[in-house]
Amino acid sequence: MEQKKRVFSGVRANARPHIGNYLGAMKGMLELQDKYDCIFSVVDLHTVIVPYDPQTLQAQIREVVLDFLGAGLDPHKCHLLVQSQLAGEHLELAYYLGCIYPVSRIEDLPTYKEKKATYPDYINIGLFYYPVLMAADILIYNAELVPIGIDNEPHLEVAREMARKFNAMYGTKLVEPQRYATPGGSVPSLSGEGKMSKSKGGTIILTDSLAEIKTVLAKAPTDSGHGEKFPAEGPAANLMTFVELFEGHDRAMQYKEQYKNGGIRYGELKAELAEAIYKELRPVQERRKHYEEHPEEVEDILKEGADYARGIADKTLKEVRGKMGLSKHETTN
Ligand code: TYM
Repeated sequence: MEQKKRVFSGVRANARPHIGNYLGAMKGMLELQDKYDCIFSVVDLHTVIVPYDPQTLQAQIREVVLDFLGAGLDPHKCHLLVQSQLAGEHLELAYYLGCIYPVSRIEDLPTYKEKKATYPDYINIGLFYYPVLMAADILIYNAELVPIGIDNEPHLEVAREMARKFNAMYGTKLVEPQRYATPGGSVPSLSGEGKMSKSKGGTIILTDSLAEIKTVLAKAPTDSGHGEKFPAEGPAANLMTFVELFEGHDRAMQYKEQYKNGGIRYGELKAELAEAIYKELRPVQERRKHYEEHPEEVEDILKEGADYARGIADKTLKEVRGKMGLSKHETTN
């Protein structure tokens, strides 16, 4: 029987996943779980790279697991994992990958530069190791597809380069992963600044009520609502991205026409958009509730996920150690 393609993706636990994470990554996970052999993880080892609160970390991890399950990740179709359940395995491969990869390539990554600018007093080796550990997360499972947002593409390129170089040096068969893209690969912030991000305002999280969604949207910047040409960027373009994603292309085209003829009434647009976002989130919240009320089910799901993942990770590590000459008893041909 042909082996199903393997898929891996991860979400950090620094803050509650927002609709950017949902559209850019989780929607892809949902699509792929029906077809492929999927492992999806809360990446808590990536969470401790920036300042965080150890007292609340376990609760934050649990919230992301609940969001995964609420979003519709189905434990009968995919495996759910908390990365630190396999800390030894992921970190060991990360170390080996780090041994063959140039420091200068990591220093050049835009994401590394951004994080350095966000946390100028916290530029640690862990931060530097972020993309190396991410590559290990993926390569340890030989994942071919990775559902992630556009912002993570440079990290995937690092993972591919690492796989290529490692294979060339040691004769391993690490798989070069590709990004699985969704329409919401780059969701803008609702505060008008750049992309929606866990470290900035202007986010909607998966458990927000209709009233909370309305409040965030009410604060979203707008323009005059009319002009000769619909702007390609700025507040109107940002809001239209959300209309496209939650209400569809046709509705967005109608608004764009309205902009040129008579003008858009943003109060009405925002009220309608809030309803559309809530319509998508309500079933997520209902499913989530079941798992909130059954923590023992969640424990079992994570245990199964870790056991499954360990079987694959151990096999990869055994081969890698052998090829690297690190264990004479594990040499494979
Ligand atoms: P995190 O938690 O920061 O982001 C989780 C996922 O959400 C996507 N994303 C977005 N997509 C669209 N629009 C946005 N505004 C937006 N903001 C975030 C991210 O691209 C990501 O897919 N590096 C990962 C965590 C990670 C990982 C991995 C992912 C660690 N190891 C291995 C895949 C495979 C991250 O950015 O997490």
